[in-house]
Amino acid sequence: MVTDMIKSNPAIEDVIEKVLISEEMINEAVERIAADIDRDYSEKNLLLLGILKGSVVFMGDLMKKIKSPLEIDFMKVSSYGAGTTSSGRINIILDLHRSDLSEKDIIIVEDIIDSGRTLSYLVEYLSLNGARSVKTCTLLDKPTRRTVEFVPDYVGYEIPDEFVVGYGLDYDEQYRALPYVGVLKREVYES
Ligand code: IMP
Ligand code: MG
Repeated sequence: MVTDMIKSNPAIEDVIEKVLISEEMINEAVERIAADIDRDYSEKNLLLLGILKGSVVFMGDLMKKIKSPLEIDFMKVSSYGAGTTSSGRINIILDLHRSDLSEKDIIIVEDIIDSGRTLSYLVEYLSLNGARSVKTCTLLDKPTRRTVEFVPDYVGYEIPDEFVVGYGLDYDEQYRALPYVGVLKREVYES
């Protein structure tokens, strides 16, 4: 079904090698993670903290499925420049301005973990800023790409070392609105 959709849209067919995670698979992961979070957070003071911009689609779907009371907030960090390789430095572009972190049980929501630098930095940053607890949730994980040790608490799918786009994930700000996660053709970023 998803492949039919790609075939009928030549612009997308030109850049997507294959669909890696279909809409159905995404929905399954969202339901599973929401149930796990409900099991763990019913007695807590949950703050879902989305990392802009990649997490917005996942965040929107996930928050609708969680039954426990929650608040949402966002931070924006940069580690990637334009392209497919990380610059290795984390910059906070949009910070949290809240005085209630000591009462909050934070789950950071990410689209994907690659080197692990972004999330390990943010977990330490939020802990140092007094959050009551900090856990992490990601739709996708590329465990073979780590440069720092990092194990997320809630994971949708582990994927191989391929550059993917869609469902929030971008290449040069493009393709975030695709409803599935697809592998980007190498020629798109290697030309
Ligand atoms: P890390 O700090 O290296 O773990 O970087 C994680 C961030 O890199 C993610 O939030 C994404 O913005 C970006 N990223 C890593 N892999 C991909 C990919 O395959 N497609 C799109 N963005 C990616
Ligand atoms: Mg991101």
